[in-house]
Amino acid sequence: MADTSPIGIHDLSFATTEYVLAHTALAQHNGTDVAKYHKGIGQRSMSVPAADEDIVTMGAAAAAPLLERHGSENIRTVIFATESSIDQAKSAGIYVHSLLGMGSATRVVELKQACYGATAALQFAIGLVRRDPAQRVLVVAADVSKYELDSPGEATQGAAAVAMLVGAEPALVRIEEPSGVFTADVMDFWRPNYREAALVDGQESITAYLLAAEGCWKDYTEQGGRPLEEFTAFCYHQPFTKMAYKAHRHLLNHCGHGVDEDRVARDLGLTTAYNNVIGNSYTASVYLALAALLDQADDLSGQAVGLLSYGSGSVAEFFAGTVVPGYRAHLRTAAHRAAIDRREPVDHARYRALHERSFPTDGEEHRTPAETTGPFRLAGIRGHKRVYETRA
Ligand code: HMG
Repeated sequence: MADTSPIGIHDLSFATTEYVLAHTALAQHNGTDVAKYHKGIGQRSMSVPAADEDIVTMGAAAAAPLLERHGSENIRTVIFATESSIDQAKSAGIYVHSLLGMGSATRVVELKQACYGATAALQFAIGLVRRDPAQRVLVVAADVSKYELDSPGEATQGAAAVAMLVGAEPALVRIEEPSGVFTADVMDFWRPNYREAALVDGQESITAYLLAAEGCWKDYTEQGGRPLEEFTAFCYHQPFTKMAYKAHRHLLNHCGHGVDEDRVARDLGLTTAYNNVIGNSYTASVYLALAALLDQADDLSGQAVGLLSYGSGSVAEFFAGTVVPGYRAHLRTAAHRAAIDRREPVDHARYRALHERSFPTDGEEHRTPAETTGPFRLAGIRGHKRVYETRA
């Protein structure tokens, strides 16, 4: 008989950037009515990395508190999910493993499928824990979302990292079976290896997301998943927070429920608070939605939460988590709020300069200015090698 002992998210922590750009500043610069950003796409500000921040510094900053609380002795696997990779060969996870002083008896790997990557990492981690329940897996999801300046996508940029410790008898959320999965070959959003900024067909990407949401929900029900009414809340991938509303209305309609706006607000309302001010963090986004829900909701003990992960290209997965009684004692609500509040506002000119910066490609030594006040920084690039350091 299949082992059904609970496995899931034992601890969760996130980190974001040093700087933040308000959408009011972007609107003022490009002459857009700010209501389009605040109401139309549901975004108020976006995290902007400092010159010495990237997916590694954010990923390590997100994961460090997990290791401080639980140690790293039982962690034999680190899975780093990202689509803002810094190297075509070496996993960003190895830099994180090194910055956190983890032992050598660890396997470390990087995983990619657009914004969906962290959900694949979580599911693969559950498989590893199922094989050996004494082990824990560190899943790190970190991304910098970057579109061309003055493009429609620009308002949906952002950056963050979420770290999750996956294990048996989890303290936060038990991940249930079954999962509903869906794949379709579409070119809605992509980033060829020679480009830093993503290419996107905005309206096509919204349609592809909705079709994928429908497709993975269909598979979820065919696999014997819960009916919609059993869920207390739904955490969607949020490229911009209004997308969660579009997807949820689509699902309700598809299931023949009609769209009751009070119900939609109840189902999603608490899940958008972090993404609304951080922006799109790609792989991390759906888990920031979960963090926002857990941090803000009244007691959710024993209740079912639906998670819908979407990654362009495209892959989607719908699955359920049951919130573990007593979970509130393990939350990091104050640290999460501090990560958002500590960001320094930048004006539009400074944001543009940061957006346009690039590293030399000739192997010349390059030192990055010391800007971040976070625990880790990218000191520079020497002989084509990235050099990271822990801040004193
Ligand atoms: P756009 O063309 O700038 O905006 O692109 P729009 O004209 O579609 O307007 C956006 C919304 O604002 C509309 O609302 C307008 O009506 C409203 P809707 O009709 O959709 O409900 N609006 C206003 N509201 C109030 N007051 C006003 C006003 N003016 C307009 N004055 C778009 C928007 C999202 C397409 C663009 O920002 C973009 O291309 N973003 C990047 C792509 C993206 O985020 N796609 C989402 C789905 S794909 C995905 O989630 C995967 C992804 O995360 C990547 C990955 O998987 O790796 C992106």
